[in-house]
Amino acid sequence: MRRPHPASRPAPQLRIKPPRQLIAESGADLEGHGLRRTMGLFQLVCFGVGAIVGTGIFVGLSDSVAKAGPAVVLSFALAAVTCVFTAFSFAELGGAIPVSGSSYSFAYATLGERTAFLVGWCLLLEYGVSVSAVAVGWSQYLNELLNSLVGWQLPDALSAGPGDGGVVNLPAVVVILLAATLLVRGVRESARATAAMAVLKIGILLLFLAIAFTAFQAGHLSPFATHGAGGVTAGASLAFFSYIGFDAITTAGEEVKNPRKNVPIAIMICIGLVTLLYCAVAVAAIGGLGADAVGDKPAALSLIVNQVTDSTVGGGVIAFGAVVAIASVVLAVMYGQTRILMSMSRDGLVPRVFERVSPKTATPAVNTWIVALVFAVPAAFASLDAVVNLTTIGTLAVMAVVNVAVVALRRSEPELKRSFRVPLYPASPILGVGFCLYLMYGTGWATWLQFAAFLVVGSLVYACYGRSRSRLVAPAAPGA
Ligand code: ALA
Repeated sequence: MRRPHPASRPAPQLRIKPPRQLIAESGADLEGHGLRRTMGLFQLVCFGVGAIVGTGIFVGLSDSVAKAGPAVVLSFALAAVTCVFTAFSFAELGGAIPVSGSSYSFAYATLGERTAFLVGWCLLLEYGVSVSAVAVGWSQYLNELLNSLVGWQLPDALSAGPGDGGVVNLPAVVVILLAATLLVRGVRESARATAAMAVLKIGILLLFLAIAFTAFQAGHLSPFATHGAGGVTAGASLAFFSYIGFDAITTAGEEVKNPRKNVPIAIMICIGLVTLLYCAVAVAAIGGLGADAVGDKPAALSLIVNQVTDSTVGGGVIAFGAVVAIASVVLAVMYGQTRILMSMSRDGLVPRVFERVSPKTATPAVNTWIVALVFAVPAAFASLDAVVNLTTIGTLAVMAVVNVAVVALRRSEPELKRSFRVPLYPASPILGVGFCLYLMYGTGWATWLQFAAFLVVGSLVYACYGRSRSRLVAPAAPGA
């Protein structure tokens, strides 16, 4: 016998949105609903690569090397293992509940409205703040490219925020506004642009590998764990940033052809591909020049290529690739943020303007411009370091919740159609939670304090706004 659904219980923080209701509302099994189904598997994989490969490997590799030494390869492996377990969970949930909204929707269907709201709140770190951070990284590489092309770069005052010794970061603002323009024009154009950029960035990393391996010396990898296990852990927490974004694939559920099949497959392809690439790039970088020459260096990949080839041409090509790669991350991550807000708006937890789809372009145009303008502000004024750790801890917290959600959904909806099931259940999601907590530990206590304060503010916002406006309590009027 079915128990009465929790939505009918009085405690609003325990409201659960049934998966079948989520799917029906989104039209995920139908054609001809609000958003157009334009993405196939190839486009989806490119979209995932577009969301993942960017600032983390091009800018952050050298910071991870500084923490872990040659053992940074273990750091990347540790971050990858965390992602693999969590990717299994995303794949199972994405295949079972193929709607836009990603981890937010999964939490709503399993763990209740308050948790879902806080997950959505943390996604503002993973997506929104990331947009700002990645745009700041883009700005640095744009200057690097200008330098190698014309021997001139924008002055610091106009290309860095006050935290990085400048006044305002104009290129970071410009790349955000350009990405918004593409997204508003429609997913078909955006997906094509993203596909081209993803192929190009993989090509650039392969070019780096081909050049760096010509200078490979096994001796550069020894001694190996120069900063011990603590260094490997700290390096893994930093390296994790370079994997953030694979879950963006599940935010596109409503615009994918055959999402039950394509979403899980695309996640697995993306995570496997970038893990291989990152580990190879780390080995090639350190094997080429040694950990000391790579650690804490700006634009380390360009630097290595310049030194190996004894010319600035190769480094310029890599800088061009980084500019393209990081721009595509801005595009994909901003897309994810708009779709999450769209889902939360449909549920009444954020204002309804975020769910409005433009009849002309079939995209959430107003939503996209609000996201662009809001996150252009930190892009203009914040330093890169200031936001990376907070983004990482917020993302890991969301991923821990997603692993828990797999267990919760298996228990609450055992009959729900699943196109993919995590292997070794329940070991896989439990290990996923464990690895997420381990990497969160590696971000340090100061980040934990900031994160706790962020969650307190989120809880207040839910208590004062979302709780009373939730459509599970006050459904929208017909036709509204
Ligand atoms: N993984 C994304 C990047 O490295 C956030 O830029």
